[in-house]
Formats: sequence, structure tokens, C-alpha cells
Amino acid sequence: MTQPVRVAVVGLGFVGLPLALTYAMKGASVIGIDVVPRVVEEINAGRSHHLESYQGKTLPEILREQIDAGRFYATTSYAEAAANVNHYIVTAGLPVHNGDPDLGPLKSCAETLGSVLKKGDTVMIRSTVVPGTTEEVVKPILEEVSGLVAGTDFYLTYCSERIAEGRAFEEFIHMPLVLGGINEASAEKGKELLSFISETDVTISDIRVVETAKVIENIQRDVNIAMVQEFARFAEAFGIDTFELIKVANTHTRVNLLTPGPGVGGFCLPNALYYLQPKARELEVSLPILQQARMTNDAVPEVLINMLERVLKEKGKTLAGSRVAVLGLAMKDFSNDDRVSPVNDLIGLLQTKGVEVRSYDPAVPTRYEHKVDSFEAAVKDADALFLTAVQKEFAEADWAAVAEQMADSPILFDTKNRIPRDLVSKATVVRI
Ligand SMILES: NC(=O)c1ccc[n+]([C@@H]2O[C@H](COP(=O)([O-])OP(=O)(O)OC[C@H]3O[C@@H](n4cnc5c(N)ncnc54)[C@H](O)[C@@H]3O)[C@@H](O)[C@H]2O)c1
Repeated sequence: MTQPVRVAVVGLGFVGLPLALTYAMKGASVIGIDVVPRVVEEINAGRSHHLESYQGKTLPEILREQIDAGRFYATTSYAEAAANVNHYIVTAGLPVHNGDPDLGPLKSCAETLGSVLKKGDTVMIRSTVVPGTTEEVVKPILEEVSGLVAGTDFYLTYCSERIAEGRAFEEFIHMPLVLGGINEASAEKGKELLSFISETDVTISDIRVVETAKVIENIQRDVNIAMVQEFARFAEAFGIDTFELIKVANTHTRVNLLTPGPGVGGFCLPNALYYLQPKARELEVSLPILQQARMTNDAVPEVLINMLERVLKEKGKTLAGSRVAVLGLAMKDFSNDDRVSPVNDLIGLLQTKGVEVRSYDPAVPTRYEHKVDSFEAAVKDADALFLTAVQKEFAEADWAAVAEQMADSPILFDTKNRIPRDLVSKATVVRI
């Protein structure tokens, strides 16, 4: 694309904000749209808690630079954006409630977008969706509300979002992309829009293939981790180190085992099966292995608590009345994102068993009644700790000194392979 594009990014969260800024950094004129006024106000004030960075600059620094350069601002008004742009990239997600995806935010976005859509506009969906959603849900809403015809009056494409949080800027530019259009003209427009920031090849395929591929890319990681959980239980019973086992197996060039951790969290991996399931039900296709993997991963907090109970018992203690520090609330290491984090489940279960929990995570902004303000406050006099997500402060910790601050004969559960096993003689380190 030779002319700078005028683009609106709809949804300014973990994906949308860095995506909007990537377009702005490349010279596009970008408007961010979000339904939450507080999100828009904070962004326009140059503030963000997102931990992304690019070429030595933090996201807030990039944000302020792009605002000052006049290339980016945010609004809650689709109509205001529509007067200035002809491309829309939609990143509103599908939350999952009790295993069922909620298409509400995406539908509402399509309705509002339909009411401002103009001839010649391009709409690209980048949200992760139930396969079939672009053609079966988004397209009819846009056409009905706008009175325009998709594929001729406006262009409609789906491009799966593959970035990992923490590497967003880099991956918007370098991660290979797959794209589908509702017709050839739409795919062509979508490719042009992507090429403004992307330096990789774009594979064009059937829109349903692209939607389904996104979901199964995530599910294969969920299944891989569930499998590794079983390997971990075997390794523990056999008295061998799980992480060493994985490292050794991964020296095989065709093996790629992931690490077990405290379960599977985040908006992407645990939700992926729930996006596939509704379509599979409609098509009467069963998914037993995938469902088992999800259940295995969901059960990990319970497995950890059973282990804790056993080790406490060896020390003459019980779960009820014990004090446990939980270090790391994020869904993965070095992240500030605690959505769908298995650590929340772990803490809830500990509390139902009468454990006094004190959690700490310097990167996660969410407030919880169990969350304390410092590493020291979390571990002081604790009978046990769980290291559940690594943050810089934990990566640099002197674990022998941490054990000294804990109660007598402390137990350190390490789900991250970060705590030396031979810490101090009176402490028990359990690596899981
Ligand atoms: N977070 C990731 O690393 C990641 C990676 C790959 C794909 N994805 C997918 O990308 C999508 C976005 O994920 P996210 O993590 O950025 O979510 P998020 O919740 O951080 O951001 C979504 C934003 O959309 C806004 N929104 C909701 N409804 C809206 C509407 N009708 N109009 C305008 N704005 C609206 C919300 O207020 C929110 O700020 C999801 O489908 C997710 O599955 C996320």
C-alpha cells in the first residue's frame, strides 16, 4: 500500500492497542475505538498498564509519541472514526461463560460498525471466533444494518491474530499471517491492509479454514500441556525431575513438549476448545481427546493442593489453618494478564480448604483481597509458597533468604523450575 492508510482499530485491549500503535508507527493515521470510556480516557492521557515494548521503548512511551505526532488517538464514537477512516480492524473478543462463548461484544461491534459503514470500506476481523462466525454472524449484521452488500460495496476479511503477549509489536511485523476473504476482492484488500505493517508472507485460504486454524493452533498447545501434566505426575512418582525429562526429550528434533506449570491460563488457550465446541456440536463431531485435555488442565490446581496437603502432613501440619504465599497471579511468566488464570482457581480452592492465602504479583494491576503489596509481606511466616508465574522480582530472588523469612520447615512449590532444590536444609523444595 503506497498511501498511508486511515484505519480504525476496534477494541483497545492487549491486541488492539499495540496493533493500532504499530500502524501509527508505520505512518498510518489511526483511530482507536473502545466501548469503555475509562480505557479511552487513559489511552488519550498516554497511560497504559500493558507491558509491551518495542526497540527499547515501552508501550506508554510509544503511545505518547504517536499521540504527539498526531497519528493516533482513541474514541468511544464509531461515527467520529467513520468520518476519518476507511479501514476497520476488529479485535473485540468473545468471552466464555461456563464453557459457552459469548458473541455479544462482537455482534454489538458489528451492529455499530454497520450503522457507520460506507461504500468502499474494508472490515477485517482479528478476534478469535467460533469457526464460521465471519460469514454466518458478522456479515449478515453488517449487511442488514448498513444496507450495503459485502464483497462489492464493502470488503470483509478474517485474519487470525497470532501474537503472544509481551512480543506483540515484534510479532505484528514478523509473525507469518493467514487471511481469508468472503471473496477474492476482499482477500486482496485485506492483504493490502496487512502489508502496511507486516513484513512476512500472507497465506490466503478459505475464510473458514483460517478461523478454524486459529482455534486448533491454540488447542494443540492445550493438549500438549495436558499430556505433559501426565508425564509430570509420572516423573514425580518415579523420582525424576520433570523439567530435566522434558529438556532431554526435546533434544529430539521432532519433539516439542511444553512445560507443565500450574495449569493453562489466559484468554486464548483455555477458551480455544470452547470456540470449537459449538460448531462441532452443530456438525455432530465429537472431540473426546480435546475435552479430556481441557479437564486435565482445569484439574491441575486440585492436584497441586493434594500435593501440598501430603507434604504438610509429613511436617505434622494440616491445610486448614496453614498460611500459603502465592507468587505470580499472571496467566504466564512476565505478563500482567490475569484473565482466566489457573492461579485464581488455585487460590479459591486453597481458601475453601481453610488456608490463609497471601498473593503477590508486582505486574498484575487487578486488586484482590488476598493480594499484598510486597514479596516480603506475602512470604513472611508462610508455611508454604507456590511460585506460579515468574516476574522479574521472582527471577532475581534469593530463595534461601526467602525460605528464612517463612515459618519453620517451609515448603516451596516450584511450578517454574526457578528455585534451587538444595536451598537450605530445613526447607523442602517441590518441583512440579
Ligand atoms: N491477548 C492475546 O495475546 C491474544 C492473542 C491472539 C489472539 N487474541 C484474540 O484477540 C481478541 C482480543 O483479545 P484481547 O486480549 O486484546 O482482549 P481485551 O479484552 O484485552 O480487549 C478487547 C477490547 O475490546 C473492547 N470492546 C468490547 N466490545 C467492544 C465493542 N462493541 N466496540 C468496541 N470495543 C469493544 C473491550 O472494552 C476491550 O478493551 C480476542 O478475540 C482474543 O481471543 C488475543
